Amino acid sequence: MIIGIPKEIKNNENRVGMTPSGVFELTKNGHQVYVQSTAGLGSGYADHDYQKVGAELLPTIEDVYQKAEMIVKVKEPIEAEYQLIKKDQLVFTYFHFASSEILTHAMIQSEAVCLAYETVQTNDRKLPLLIPMSEVAGRMSIQEGAKYLEKPMEGMGILLGGVPGVPPANVLVLGGGVVGTEAAKMAAGMGANVTIMDINLERLRYLDDVMPANVNTIMANELNIREHIQNHHLIIGGVLIPGAKAPKLITKDMLSSMQKGTVLVDVAVDQGGCFETTHPTTHAQPTYLIDDILHYTVANMPGAVPYTSTIALTNATLPYVLQLANNGWQKACDENEALKLGLNIIQGHVVNQPVAEAFGLPFVPLNEFFETEEV
Ligand SMILES: NC(=O)c1ccc[n+]([C@@H]2O[C@H](COP(=O)([O-])OP(=O)(O)OC[C@H]3O[C@@H](n4cnc5c(N)ncnc54)[C@H](O)[C@@H]3O)[C@@H](O)[C@H]2O)c1
Repeated sequence: MIIGIPKEIKNNENRVGMTPSGVFELTKNGHQVYVQSTAGLGSGYADHDYQKVGAELLPTIEDVYQKAEMIVKVKEPIEAEYQLIKKDQLVFTYFHFASSEILTHAMIQSEAVCLAYETVQTNDRKLPLLIPMSEVAGRMSIQEGAKYLEKPMEGMGILLGGVPGVPPANVLVLGGGVVGTEAAKMAAGMGANVTIMDINLERLRYLDDVMPANVNTIMANELNIREHIQNHHLIIGGVLIPGAKAPKLITKDMLSSMQKGTVLVDVAVDQGGCFETTHPTTHAQPTYLIDDILHYTVANMPGAVPYTSTIALTNATLPYVLQLANNGWQKACDENEALKLGLNIIQGHVVNQPVAEAFGLPFVPLNEFFETEEV
């Protein structure tokens, strides 16, 4: 297959759809890979790193879209890319269709095959192509939180791990899923006193088993939250109710009960945020103060660490990319139910029900494109 790796052109996006090691696997399997010149630079890969593993460089994004049968990228296409996408071209990337009607209509019109990372789902209901970014954001939430607790950053001025003779900071993690677990591990490793809250008792049991001694688990409910926010210095929001807006666990009226300079990091901002006072920010201006409480609410946290995020993403996507390249999308999806669930739009037809419902569009069941049973 002919595979194209374009440079990401979304503002401040430095990740790239494939590392040189991923490209190597593709060329080894006999595929032709075109990489746009400088596409990997933001993630630490020079053009010659791709050439060494058999890729051919192309000077412009137009050239890449023009030649490729399959496009592998990171972010959803932005407007400048809409007209570059061709009929029947396979596009494998994050789309998040339900949050953009314009993008949905543009991809229907393109008649391309849109396979979305975020809806690839294994039969244990895990989302294997979202997990790596939650891992990155979870770990980063503590790194950022520790930094913003410093006085010059407008935090209260407390060192996460304390020092001998001085107690460490208290870190409250709301949601003990992927983000929460990674956050708790980082905070515990830095010596903080950590509390994880979740509504899932099974999950709390598991975390209690595997976490170090400076991590406690508490059932999430309003009273417990109201009590704990008063003496915690860094609070991480990592809750998720799949397909729904995040519940507002900390309301505006609660801010006055916290210590001035407390730092809130709302990782769930992309689902509307789990603090009432959350609104999305960017890496250019990540924080704002409300009632002397510092909010960090960057919607694409992994974008700040492209060296790590690109490799983490490729580690997860490569097995699927290889299946698609070796077999074509129809056979690959027929053989792999998880991949099949990634199909959102096929040649002008919306095949993902929530996307169709979001915009009142006709829904075409997946089985119309496959001989075997619908998933
Ligand atoms: N800002 C970013 O850059 C970024 C990056 C990656 C992920 N995220 C977001 O982070 C959020 C968490 O992702 P995840 O992968 O950890 O999800 P996950 O499904 O692994 O974990 C979510 C956890 O929240 C718990 N939960 C649900 N409702 C709760 C409540 N009312 N109180 C306490 N706990 C509750 C669930 O039981 C679950 O354990 C998602 O919204 C995800 O989109 C943001």
